[in-house]
Amino acid sequence: MNQDQLKTLVGQAALQYVLPGEYVGVGTGSTVNKFIDALASLKGQIRGAVSSSEASSERLRAHGIEVIDANAVDALALYVDGADEIDPSGCMIKGGGAALTREKIVAALAQRFVCIADQSKYVPVLGRFALPVEVIPMAAQQIVRRFAALGGVATLRLQADGSALRTDNGQHILDVTGLRIPDPLAFESAVNNWPGVVCVGVFAHQKASVCLLGTPEGVKTLTF
Ligand code: A5P
Repeated sequence: MNQDQLKTLVGQAALQYVLPGEYVGVGTGSTVNKFIDALASLKGQIRGAVSSSEASSERLRAHGIEVIDANAVDALALYVDGADEIDPSGCMIKGGGAALTREKIVAALAQRFVCIADQSKYVPVLGRFALPVEVIPMAAQQIVRRFAALGGVATLRLQADGSALRTDNGQHILDVTGLRIPDPLAFESAVNNWPGVVCVGVFAHQKASVCLLGTPEGVKTLTF
């Protein structure tokens, strides 16, 4: 099975966690796109979705699934999202698709976070994938220096035309290489306190409750 087929497999497997009559929290990325396509089959049974990006909202609406604002719900039973990395405790690096801030906001509303990922995302310690951090542009260089003091190299994410990428929130993304994150909870808290950081792509406070990992042998269910 190739990576795309593994993504389809876990996207479909996540349907078992969807509760009828509820709003579903929906993440962002190529794996979540498979989930959204599968979710279309339950369109008449769910109330709708709270989405973490313009891209996911557009895809949900194209399937006829209503998308409501995160402020319109007090809580969600379920949030389904992918990850760039997930460790054995369910902590993740996210934000490869630049949607980390809204992903964390929607995840924080949910009682259960189901992470869907192919097996290449499972790592013993977070840090192999360049860590995305959404920042206020005027703070970018001081945040670059703070990461340098930790041994990290932070680079401004650019678009294809060479200009700085703007997130759905109008901010910039730094991608940080050279980090090793054995204590994700402490790391997330520390970086969140740096002035100008909007959101760090470590999800430890909003870690996964379940991970559906796509392997050639089928879907492996990890619970945390
Ligand atoms: C989006 O900002 C990310 O957090 C994604 O969830 C993550 O990058 C995984 O994306 P893929 O499913 O495309 O690998």
